[in-house]
Amino acid sequence: MNLFDTLRGLHIIAVIAWMSGMMYLPRLYAYHTETAPPGSEFDANFLVWERKLLKIIINPSMILTWILGVSLIFWHVHAAKEGWAFLAQPWMIVKLAAVIFLSGWHGFLAGSYKKFLAGERSKSAKFWRATNELPFLAAVVAVLAVTLQFGQR
Ligand code: HEM
Repeated sequence: MNLFDTLRGLHIIAVIAWMSGMMYLPRLYAYHTETAPPGSEFDANFLVWERKLLKIIINPSMILTWILGVSLIFWHVHAAKEGWAFLAQPWMIVKLAAVIFLSGWHGFLAGSYKKFLAGERSKSAKFWRATNELPFLAAVVAVLAVTLQFGQR
C-alpha cells in the first residue's frame, strides 16, 4: 500500500465532507432567517441542525483536510526530497490561497451560528443565498490548481 496515494485519497474524502457541509449550512441559515423568528420552536430546531452540522461534519472534516493536506506537503518536501520550494510553485500558491479563503469562510459561518444562537439575524436570507456558491467556486480553484499543476518546476 502506497502511503502518498492513501493520504491523497483520505484527503479527498475529508474535502468532500468539508465542502458538502459548507455548502449546506448557508442554505439552513437562509431558511432560518426567513422562517424562524428568535425564540420560536422553529428557531430551536434550526439551532440543533446547524450545531450538529458544524460539530459533527464541518469542523472535524476541516481539521482532517488540513492534517492530511499538511502531511502531503511534508511528503513532497521530505520523502520526495523536493524541499520547501514545493510550496513556492504557482499552482500551490493558488491552491493555498483558495484553502485560506475556505478556512476563513468556515470561521465566518461558525461565528454566524453564534449570532443565531444569541437571537441575532446579522445577515439577510438574500445574503445567504447569494454567497452560497462561494465555497463551491473556491473548491473549483483548489481542485483545478492540483490537477493542472500549472507553472510546475
Ligand atoms: C486545508 C489545507 C490543504 C492543504 C494543505 C492541501 C494540500 C494538498 C497537497 C500537498 C496535495 C498533493 C498534491 C499532489 O502532489 O498531487 C493535495 C492534493 C489534493 N487536494 Fe488538497 N490541500 C488542502 C485542502 C484542499 C481543499 C479544500 C481541496 C478541494 C476543495 C483540495 C483538493 C485536493 C485534491 C482534489 C487533491 C488531489 C489531486 C491529485 O491527486 O491530482 N485540497 N492537497
